[in-house]
Amino acid sequence: TIPVLTIDGPSGSGKGTISRAVADRLGWHYLDSGAIYRAVGLAAAWESIDLSDPDAVAACAARTEIRFESDDAGEPRVIVNGKDATHQLRMETAGAAASAIAAHPPVRTALLDLQKRFRRAPGLVADGRDMGTVIFPDAGYKVFLTASAEERAKRRYKQLKDKGVSVNLDSLLHEIAARDERDAGRAVAPLKPALDAVLLDSTGMPITEVIERVLAVLPD
Ligand code: CDP
Repeated sequence: TIPVLTIDGPSGSGKGTISRAVADRLGWHYLDSGAIYRAVGLAAAWESIDLSDPDAVAACAARTEIRFESDDAGEPRVIVNGKDATHQLRMETAGAAASAIAAHPPVRTALLDLQKRFRRAPGLVADGRDMGTVIFPDAGYKVFLTASAEERAKRRYKQLKDKGVSVNLDSLLHEIAARDERDAGRAVAPLKPALDAVLLDSTGMPITEVIERVLAVLPD
């Protein structure tokens, strides 16, 4: 079977950066499941769909076309229904929309196959909230990445600022806390570590060290 490394955790835990780097080092594929939920939230907003209507959003999820590409500089781009939505998807408005629609069971069901299809040789690094618990419960390697709430908000703040997005640290802290609470409290696929996941608290840890610790979960 094709090996899978799942990296789950709350917002700003560094999952995206770490998962990409680890996938790169291993030469494995990378699944950014959060981008899928963000893309569906965005597509639903484009179609003026009521985000609290599970069936309407699930139907939208089923027809939304999401493509992951790289630009000439090798930077990831996400194309949603033919439009480059990379920048928009990073905004906290997209994160909030993702978290709202991600709480609907039929939406999650509609996105199951799409996510499972990312498992291709030679291997997959899967980044999200329920990779180790729901999507790839049989994954051989599982990490649950956390960091203190304050550090996670600061990282996200810096990330957005580096992208040229102007944000207020205080309101970002509140928005992210609200999203984490909703993600952890929802009935379906709540954010929690898989029983067989290695817990890694990256508070105060340089990225290079986090990458090494994640790689250490895999056999040599
Ligand atoms: O980058 P960040 O961790 O802030 O967010 P993300 O991974 O892009 O995910 C955005 C939202 O999508 C999360 O807050 C979750 O509500 C939802 N999500 C999910 O429910 N399941 C996943 N596997 C990935 C994301």
